[in-house]
Amino acid sequence: MNTNFSYEIDNDNPEEKKRFIKKLFDSIVPTYDLLNHILSMGTDMLWRRNIFNHIKDVRDNMAVDLCCGTGDLSLLLHQKGAKVVSLDFSMNMLQKGIEKQALKGYPVVADASRIPFRENSFAAATIAFGIRNIPDIDIFIKDLFRVLMPGGQLAILELVRPVNKIIEKLYSFYLCNLLPFIGGIISGRKSAYRYLSGTIATFVDPQDLKALLEKFGFTDVSHYPQTFNIAAIIICRKELS
Ligand SMILES: C[S@@+](CC[C@H](N)C(=O)[O-])C[C@H]1O[C@@H](n2cnc3c(N)ncnc32)[C@H](O)[C@@H]1O
Repeated sequence: MNTNFSYEIDNDNPEEKKRFIKKLFDSIVPTYDLLNHILSMGTDMLWRRNIFNHIKDVRDNMAVDLCCGTGDLSLLLHQKGAKVVSLDFSMNMLQKGIEKQALKGYPVVADASRIPFRENSFAAATIAFGIRNIPDIDIFIKDLFRVLMPGGQLAILELVRPVNKIIEKLYSFYLCNLLPFIGGIISGRKSAYRYLSGTIATFVDPQDLKALLEKFGFTDVSHYPQTFNIAAIIICRKELS
């Protein structure tokens, strides 16, 4: 397992990094959804829906959608019948989610590494495109484990580096050049989109993440690559005690 995660390299001051990330997301809210759909050519919506092919029925269960942003995944959880807590530390993101009626349950402003709920509160937890932004990933996974009920499921959706060399080359070009360019023009915040493409390029690979989840007690970790392996859905659960 590669222990040189990008997190640990610039992880001397996670709180400072979080302040930077929060400010960044607060600043890109107006064009966030539009750019997500343009930059992923709509596949982001498909990937969020694909999560439900791999998790058990969430109907009538408490679910927490961490780093929920403007709430696209929270809305899907709600449509599947879950009672949804939508957590994000960016007030602007949550506000947009409320305006567009994606947050039908309980929006909560909080740091995902300090989930303000008791242990064993949720039957399911999701996090889409959020985990690569979390600098104190060990604390985050521990806290997530704490709030899940025994048997509770966790679904992670994240952009990853493709394995195929040709696709990786094309994707790197896209990440380093086109993504900041298009993101910069539409949002007016080129540096924000340069940062975001950098977080994808340096992110821990799914195998490392699997090992990390197992280290903190998650079990039955499965990995489902999406669209040429540029994204991954990782499903696991807290073991029944
Ligand atoms: C790339 S967006 C993903 C939003 C949404 N899940 C989606 O599918 O579009 C990442 C979100 O994570 C939030 N975030 C990043 N780090 C966080 C943290 N430590 N605690 C809470 N929210 C965080 C950001 O504010 C942002 O809304």
